[in-house]
Amino acid sequence: MSLHTNIGFQLLDTCIYNASGPRCTSLKELIQLDKSHSSLVLSKSSTVLPREGNVKPRYYHNELGSINSMGLPNQGFQYYIDSANAISKPYLISVNGLTLEDTKLIITKILQSNKINGIEINLSCPNIIGKGQLAYDLVEMERYLSEIFIIINQYSFPFLVGLKLPPYFDLHWYPQITNIIKKFNVHYITCINSIGNGLLVDSETESTVIKPKGGMGGIGGQYIKPIGLSNVRNFYLEFQKQNLKIDVIGCGGIESGEDIFEYILCGASAVQIGTQFYREGIKCFPRLQQELKDIMSKKGYRCLDDFKGKLQIIN
Ligand code: DHB
Repeated sequence: MSLHTNIGFQLLDTCIYNASGPRCTSLKELIQLDKSHSSLVLSKSSTVLPREGNVKPRYYHNELGSINSMGLPNQGFQYYIDSANAISKPYLISVNGLTLEDTKLIITKILQSNKINGIEINLSCPNIIGKGQLAYDLVEMERYLSEIFIIINQYSFPFLVGLKLPPYFDLHWYPQITNIIKKFNVHYITCINSIGNGLLVDSETESTVIKPKGGMGGIGGQYIKPIGLSNVRNFYLEFQKQNLKIDVIGCGGIESGEDIFEYILCGASAVQIGTQFYREGIKCFPRLQQELKDIMSKKGYRCLDDFKGKLQIIN
């Protein structure tokens, strides 16, 4: 029984690792991930300079999921480059430069360091006050990617490039986004970032549960799994239709091996764990591996390719 998978050229021991966001900001947390059963280490989204992030309270969860408006607290990209010295697993830095110029600078420095396995370009942070989500503006997104890939294409060593996308809620988006992505050497996309600008209300106190942006924040956890699954499925089918070799990574509401099984059935090559990793810590990784293996063994599946993408439509 094997949980091996590939993202682009990168072979991974298992299809389960952390989402960028919770518990991947400090060196201590990154080292914990390196020692854990996560198959890859992915950093918190990094900016040029360290950031404190938004005012607190800025994170809350209940049994159905989470809301956050962290506002990109991070230690600055150089810290995440230097952290590579302490990490032995495949290690990706999430990049969110806030401006195109800063993003280009960060990516240039990462490539020049020659120490990092790749990047996840975050096109979908919903929590920066006064800024929209880049991947909802197709013209701007294509301009960003064009300029970023002028830099990336100057380097010839293996370097994994992924895009963290927001959820899309209408079917016309999938071919449109695909037609942009396919112009560049993108190895994978991650679907989905949190659903932006949701609102959880505490009826007892008659108030919001977080403070920034009037209480609005990115929603994660069980609330969003059906949207994550549909985004994975729609991109997987569109990539197949256009014969594109781009992996889809599932993210959103994964709490059990069964959730992972569903994402892979929809076409995911791997999955990232966000809210549940925040709740449970690194213990979630061996538990999820075992739960996925138990389901596969009951069904007689020996590897992910036995069921990946093979979702059936009910008769
Ligand atoms: C933050 C939230 C996101 O959803 C994201 O993609 C990047 C950063 C944050 O608020 O820190």
